[in-house]
Amino acid sequence: MVRVVVLISGQGSNLRAFLDSCADESIPAAVVAVGADSDVSGLDHARHFDIPTFVETLEPGGDRDAWGTRLGDQIADFAPDLVILSGFMRLVPPAFVRRFAPMLLNTHPAFLPEFPGIHAVRDAFEAGVTETGASVIVVDDGVDTGPILAQRRVPVVDGDTESTLHDRIKIVERELLADVVRDIANHKTAIEEN
Ligand code: GRF
Repeated sequence: MVRVVVLISGQGSNLRAFLDSCADESIPAAVVAVGADSDVSGLDHARHFDIPTFVETLEPGGDRDAWGTRLGDQIADFAPDLVILSGFMRLVPPAFVRRFAPMLLNTHPAFLPEFPGIHAVRDAFEAGVTETGASVIVVDDGVDTGPILAQRRVPVVDGDTESTLHDRIKIVERELLADVVRDIANHKTAIEEN
């Protein structure tokens, strides 16, 4: 069983979908802890499943490297095989990446390398594209620049708002993440150091 730690920064709807899929065993993985950069509502999804949670706050102007070390220590305490950033809105420091990569994944609501960064859906929406997408990548030192493990196109439809578009993208993000973790757990995908 793949031991997974998930990091979030918000409502955690993608986390909840992942937890549900682990609970019904459609994903052969066990989320052993959920962490966040503040006490966000998404942590309640972990509590619903009696999964340990932790918060590691980066104070404004705080030392990002020291925060990354503290966050990494909290994660390492749970001995994960895989760390997943699922709506985690902080850039993790290079030492954090070196500590956990390549078993460090991120889901992104765009068809990378299109629209990297934390406003991907807004940027795509405002660009007036007719399609965008969702991607699952291995985290590297850049901003959404790591190796792409899975991605799929998502149409923009007439009458879409940024929110309706993001909801449609999230559905695909959840499917892609489930497929990637399933393939890792079933040894169909091996992620080696680059
Ligand atoms: C997801 O689309 C994720 O890719 C992006 O923020 C969203 C998080 O949504 N970084 P939620 O917190 O899982 O609902």
